Amino acid sequence: MKNLKAIILAAGEGKRMQSKKPKVLHEICNKPMVEYVIDTAKKCGAEEVCVVIGHKGEEVEAAIQGDGVSVAWQREQKGTGHAVIMAEAAFSDDDDVLILYGDTPLMRSETLTSLMAIHKAEGNSATVVSAIVENSDGYGRIIRNQSNGFVCIVEHKDATEEERAISEINTGIYVFSGKELKQSLANLKNNNAQGEYYLTDCLEIILDNGNKVGVVVAEDEDEFFGVNSRMQLAEAAKIMKDRINAYHMENGVTLIDPDNTYIDSDVEIGMDTIILPGCVLEGKTKIGEDCKIGPNSRMTDLQVGDGVIFQNSTGLESTIGNNTTVGPYAYIRPNCTIGNNVKVGDFVEVKNSVVGDGTKIPHLAYVGDTDAGEKINFGCGSIMVNYDGAKKHRTTIEDGVFVGCNVNLVAPVTIKKGAYIAAGSTITKDVPEDVLAVARARQSVIAGWKTKRIEKKS
Ligand code: UD1
Ligand code: CA
Repeated sequence: MKNLKAIILAAGEGKRMQSKKPKVLHEICNKPMVEYVIDTAKKCGAEEVCVVIGHKGEEVEAAIQGDGVSVAWQREQKGTGHAVIMAEAAFSDDDDVLILYGDTPLMRSETLTSLMAIHKAEGNSATVVSAIVENSDGYGRIIRNQSNGFVCIVEHKDATEEERAISEINTGIYVFSGKELKQSLANLKNNNAQGEYYLTDCLEIILDNGNKVGVVVAEDEDEFFGVNSRMQLAEAAKIMKDRINAYHMENGVTLIDPDNTYIDSDVEIGMDTIILPGCVLEGKTKIGEDCKIGPNSRMTDLQVGDGVIFQNSTGLESTIGNNTTVGPYAYIRPNCTIGNNVKVGDFVEVKNSVVGDGTKIPHLAYVGDTDAGEKINFGCGSIMVNYDGAKKHRTTIEDGVFVGCNVNLVAPVTIKKGAYIAAGSTITKDVPEDVLAVARARQSVIAGWKTKRIEKKS
């Protein structure tokens, strides 16, 4: 079997985006467009992906670094054929070469896999994906002969009125056999309306050399949708969002209001989890089974166990165990490990902390830079005082501690197993096991105070 290489064309300027950012780095569901294309190429078996960069290429290069991804520079954009010539070092005669565009993020790997299967089964040297469209303006038209065989592609600008009436267009996606691709690139000329080296001409050259060129008609027009403007970016994002949501529903996740649920493409969600309206699930978030998430919650790179209830809350770059409840209105900031059966209640902020199994932080608390054991009770208003104005320090709270209401634990400080901290205490020294620590002024009463005050005033 031949090796598969992919070339992604992404050197163009994308003027219509009206942006300082290179077009292919504009994001759909929080991921740059070109990353979708790279992922799709890899998914259908490309061992190496070469991205042709040009306009703001440094930025594109920095964004796409990864295993099996290389770049080829096209300093001047002299056409799609010229772009592939710039990437010639990325494939050899014996490879199959898939050509894709960096601005068509909706294409599916299944479609490309079937394209390659047809390419192989028909013994083609090149196979192009076409589509039948209502408005063919701007596209290259597929010209066929009387027996319906492929003849050539005529670009819109070079086409006659008669040719422009053809509704079968070139999507710009092809698979080539490396050898014939190299040979045809060497023979490309730029004697056309745009003075460009057209990759489309390679097909005609291959045919003229007595090799086979096939055409596969795409079934789903969306897949070849190219993004050239912000409007099209939003349109593509909508299609991607619907696709991602459908995927999760097919996998047994309930989305109460799919139109109002935003899930990034790499998010994983377990069976029988329910996502309520207004949720934004981002990055590498992974949610277990039987959870109830939302309404109006945001998760970024959050690992969530099974049976978790997470209402009206935000969770970032942290781990949450099984059967834990979060919210409403909780804020879990990065680098937290929260155990099983924990309660992180309303108006609670947790940051850079470990919270052991069965611990309760029911309301109005700040737990920052803290190592908290199991079955601790944090009273309402307990604050871990982690910052002394210059440095952050950690607080350690061992298993079974009871932290009373409105307590300050001034770090660095350790509360040993089973200790009780009296409400209103400000604790600055370590507390031993099983004691009651009281650190507040003793209450006193002044008898007759009110009467004296009234006498003084009159
Ligand atoms: C090209 C095809 C046309 C097809 C259409 C589908 C050619 C000559 N024409 O049109 O038949 O219907 O795509 O969208 O191939 N690019 C470079 N370097 C260049 C030129 C382009 O990297 O020098 C990249 C662009 O960034 C873009 C892609 O190639 O991602 C397509 O370029 P674009 O100018 O949009 O395509 P057309 O040439 O109009
Ligand atoms: Ca285009």
